[in-house]
Amino acid sequence: MAEPRTSQLFSRKPLELLMEEMRGENRLRRILGPVQLTALGVGAIIGAGIFVATGAAAHNVAGPALMLSYVVAGITCIFAALCYAEFASMVPVAGSAYTYAYATLGELFAWIIGWDLILEYGVSSAAVATGWSAYAQSSLSKLGLELPLLLRESPWRYDAVHGIFVRTGSVINLPAVLVTAVVTWVLVKGIKESAGFNATMVGIKVAAVLFVIAVGVFFISTTNWHPFAPFGWTGLSFFGHPVAGQVDPGGKPVGMLAGAAIIFFAYIGFDSVSTHTEEAKNPQRDVPLAIVISLVLCTVLYIAVVAVLTGMVRFDQLDVNAPVSMAFKTKGLGWAEGLIATAGVAGITSVLLVMMLSGPRVFLAMARDGLLPQSVFGVVHPTFRTPWKSTMLIGLFVAVLSGLLPIDSLLHLTNIGTLLAFVIVCTAILIMRRKYPDAPRPFRCPWVPVVPILGILCCLLLMFSLPAENWWRLIAWLAVGFVIYFAYGRRHSVMRRYLASGAQDRS
Ligand code: ALA
Repeated sequence: MAEPRTSQLFSRKPLELLMEEMRGENRLRRILGPVQLTALGVGAIIGAGIFVATGAAAHNVAGPALMLSYVVAGITCIFAALCYAEFASMVPVAGSAYTYAYATLGELFAWIIGWDLILEYGVSSAAVATGWSAYAQSSLSKLGLELPLLLRESPWRYDAVHGIFVRTGSVINLPAVLVTAVVTWVLVKGIKESAGFNATMVGIKVAAVLFVIAVGVFFISTTNWHPFAPFGWTGLSFFGHPVAGQVDPGGKPVGMLAGAAIIFFAYIGFDSVSTHTEEAKNPQRDVPLAIVISLVLCTVLYIAVVAVLTGMVRFDQLDVNAPVSMAFKTKGLGWAEGLIATAGVAGITSVLLVMMLSGPRVFLAMARDGLLPQSVFGVVHPTFRTPWKSTMLIGLFVAVLSGLLPIDSLLHLTNIGTLLAFVIVCTAILIMRRKYPDAPRPFRCPWVPVVPILGILCCLLLMFSLPAENWWRLIAWLAVGFVIYFAYGRRHSVMRRYLASGAQDRS
């Protein structure tokens, strides 16, 4: 084979090649319709973010202005979603942003984003499994059941005030590990069963959210919304140096924008719909539709839930572990507390299911391109037609992370990784419009270049509203990715063979 060339790093995968691959072997089954796709979106979106992270974000970072934080994060996601939707309709194959980047920015960027998506799906699954564990344990404790301390949570917790990790007395978060194992088993068995299971869970959690809004609205006291922004409106720092707004005693940015950067987690998941494009019956129409509908629906529900919560209970009295159910308990609605806690567990389970469904599909796309070993990551089970080996590997990764790490570290790392993915997707849309202006686009992102540029700026703003250590963790993760790419991916890349054969599309 010819020596690798620098141009390989920036060689783009031609659109025609992508479409040709769709006709190859190891395809997934096309069984998902528009309702199932939207349910997958909602299933991935509403979960630990609203049910768990909202409490600490309102209490410590934004106050009632968290309502606006949800608006800012929602608008940021809508910009990115419109870009995702255009891509999903143009390139209806598995792999999501990874595939889009390969077609527009070249192999190296594709690798970066693929590696980054593994971070997003793997680490967010671990964060969600940890949130599930907290909710499940709080539900069980109402029945008088408690786990021994050794098995309750991660061995370390981050002490934000002193900036150090402290021991918790536990050795492992056993419920998080167990729920990960069960979800992995469901996913290996098959997407059809998984989608059915997901639809039931989605029904339960949407009903719970509507219940919270419909009942909670009668307990709002508008005096609880004053002061509205006790931590200010911003909260920006540049690699640890405060640029605008206040910081907490641990030096982390606080304020409405900083709140948006944290609860951004609550919106993660809509992009996972695009990883199921290959399994959609009518991908060009249904995938963009499902992305936009699920996102808009969740934005409206979230703002209403936060308005109700901060109206029911003063922000500094909100519970930081199970804020929604505890708010109802405070109002003497004990019966509702159990109902919401149970629905919370169901809701968070469905998020875990969709997140863990998405990661292996990114691996699958990377393995097909030769960037990861085909024999592990590219294999589809002969009977179940699922990428079973990579599903089990991701399951293991998630089990270890969720068993050993605390939720806030996992949550922040997920956010910064996902925001980077969104920046790359918005950039890729701008490039794609120039490079392939006439390619068929069943769905067109409106107001290009304004929407992608606003998407990029909003994501960067939120990235700089996150505590600085997340930048370092992201850079460390990407560095590991570079080592793997140069040691394996670059040598085994299908594109390298393609270039060596002189068949590159040089248009
Ligand atoms: N958006 C998902 C959640 O809130 C990740 O759990």
